[in-house]
Amino acid sequence: ERGGFPHYMLKEIYEQPQTLKNCMSGRVNVEGTNITLSGIIDYKDKFINARRIIIIACGTSWHAGLIGEYLFEEFCRIPVEVEYASEFRYRNPVIYEDDVVIAISQSGETADSLAAIELARKAGAFVYGVCNVIGSSIPRNTDSGSYTHCGHEIGVASTKAFTAQVTVLTMMALAIAKEKNTIEESRYLDLIKELQNIPAKIEKILEHDDKIKQLSKIFTYAQNFIYLGRGYSYPIALEGALKLKEISYIHAEGYPAAEMKHGPIALIDNEMPIVAIGTNNNIYDKVVSNIQEIKARKGRVIAIINEGDEDIKKMADHYIEIPATEECLDPLLSCIPLQLLAYHIAVNKNRDVDMPRNLAKSVTVE
Ligand code: F6R
Repeated sequence: ERGGFPHYMLKEIYEQPQTLKNCMSGRVNVEGTNITLSGIIDYKDKFINARRIIIIACGTSWHAGLIGEYLFEEFCRIPVEVEYASEFRYRNPVIYEDDVVIAISQSGETADSLAAIELARKAGAFVYGVCNVIGSSIPRNTDSGSYTHCGHEIGVASTKAFTAQVTVLTMMALAIAKEKNTIEESRYLDLIKELQNIPAKIEKILEHDDKIKQLSKIFTYAQNFIYLGRGYSYPIALEGALKLKEISYIHAEGYPAAEMKHGPIALIDNEMPIVAIGTNNNIYDKVVSNIQEIKARKGRVIAIINEGDEDIKKMADHYIEIPATEECLDPLLSCIPLQLLAYHIAVNKNRDVDMPRNLAKSVTVE
């Protein structure tokens, strides 16, 4: 049932080209010129008139939410707050009737997320669910929503559900931007076109799996890891670090790269591996200078770069090349090598990859 894969997690990583196609199917039209989400159609005024979007989630789903923040602000020009459900529910938060609350959850059963939804509904906000498990509690307790349609995720560490969440949020942002007139038609079309190229680009990244496996052997005994990214790559730095922590039990932290100099740079020495996401985007030069600062302190840099990038390649100790894409879609690609890196390091350490210690697939108690 693992389809020849040694672990469900690896199977699920490899399924992503297909799960993202499934996620887009029936939503991106066959001509590739429009996006329709049935959960939004009837409620489009809620989104168009939203004073604010509040995203609530936990763990990996919260990281998807951070990417959602960048997407909704860039394309829809709606202010966004991303909240840990557990903090939100106990804080007596300000919620307006014209807020749209988006709850993201793979299982649809996370206790804190459910309680946060309850609070938002009582305050009169419109609540939209982005969930994977069909008929689970969150879809049953929200006003509307979109399923991620990535199939049953068995590995405790979330992989394919994460990329499907990000894909749904991307489609939502584009569909709402179109309705709100905050995106130019040509840009809308270009992004839909490129979104459809993502599955094939993930296939290409999976071809580097052997290289990543070899690379993982160098770092099996590292005690710590730092992951850095900026802009859309910052949530991926957090997600890469979480994947490593939960399945390998190596301490790892994700940071926005520019925050290094405000403290964490003190940790860097020649024993510290730093995974730097240096794919091409409008702050590429700044990422390059962050990598220079790390090399000056002898940190060991593993860079995620775009194919053909010679500049970072020269500076980094190791690199993994991924295809270039639109900046806002880059998270869907840059997370893949980090999933594989975490997986291989955990396997090298003989960890129970699919069922890491102390973790449950759905956290139904607070
Ligand atoms: C990490 C992971 C957890 C979940 C979190 C939320 O790989 O799986 O951090 O993302 O427990 O779960 P859901 O999305 O089911 O609400």
